[in-house]
Amino acid sequence: MLPDTLRWNEEERQLEILDQRKLPKEVSYLCCKTPEEVAVAIEDMAVRGAPAIGIAAAYGVALTRPITKDALDDVFLRLARTRPTAVNLFWALNRMRKVTEEVTDIALLERVLLEEAKRIHLEDIEINKKIGAYGASLLPNDCTVITHCNAGALATGGYGTALGVIRAAKDKGKRIKVYADETRPVLQGARLTAWELYQDQIDVTLICDSMAPFLMKKEKIHAVIVGADRIAKNGDTANKIGTYGLAVAAKFHGVPFIVAAPVSTIDPGCSSGGKIPIEMRKEKEIRLLPGAMEVPQEIPVWNPAFDVTPANLITAIVTEKGVLYPPFDEAISKLFG
Ligand code: MRU
Repeated sequence: MLPDTLRWNEEERQLEILDQRKLPKEVSYLCCKTPEEVAVAIEDMAVRGAPAIGIAAAYGVALTRPITKDALDDVFLRLARTRPTAVNLFWALNRMRKVTEEVTDIALLERVLLEEAKRIHLEDIEINKKIGAYGASLLPNDCTVITHCNAGALATGGYGTALGVIRAAKDKGKRIKVYADETRPVLQGARLTAWELYQDQIDVTLICDSMAPFLMKKEKIHAVIVGADRIAKNGDTANKIGTYGLAVAAKFHGVPFIVAAPVSTIDPGCSSGGKIPIEMRKEKEIRLLPGAMEVPQEIPVWNPAFDVTPANLITAIVTEKGVLYPPFDEAISKLFG
């Protein structure tokens, strides 16, 4: 059984965050009693994945003590500064902000904020199951897919988006084989996706990122399925660095490229991918090769955490409200009424 990504401990009044930096070697939890502890856990990627950081941030707001308008303002600012690309973080903070505007009684607010964080958490699991059901219907009964990074239970409240599609396909009785990209430099594919799927007895094989195009040439790949951090109004999609290259290779080989994400990942206020802020992370993530040599300091390092896949490389976007097809600007406009 997979450990919970996030859990609220009612007795201790604390958010317990599965420390994903230690996986798969060690299953341990960070206990957060303050919004600052949650903010650091998000920044340092103890918790990661667009929906999961949104949920963690919501609990972070609920941990504000004492609750005053100024304290809440500081907490919202602090949590919003943690990671810039995944829009789910800002979506969840906006939901929490609305609660603070609607409830003025401080004693009541403490309770209502926690209830809202729990609701965001539970809703996310239900949403992922719907995404899974829609996405699974796109896959043949016997299929092989490639996924990148980790868009699984570990990246969400539970079940996962891209891996939710894979789980749902398996639950429907489909035979599914998964190739997981290792996902340099943080290795979410090798450390998290391969481990997560293996725990659920889903057929998974690990590959290096650079192997995916050759694999598409050698073997019948029925789809590439990935999650997303932010989808612009025209369908351009930010996801883990390496996704764009995978989409280019998929287009070249005629492999459908499927994005699985909740509606909260769509940013209707962002017209195209060029407007999506791309997080730049520390050089040491690239410089320090796990268990091996260190790249000399004189050699510069470029470390964008995400890239943007242009809408014209995407076959379908699977959401909890159904499957969107190109032209995505029209489909997304319809979705937001
Ligand atoms: O840097 P990370 O590990 O937070 O990046 C995660 C991804 O890119 C995921 O694919 C994305 O957030 C979707 S998770 C359902």
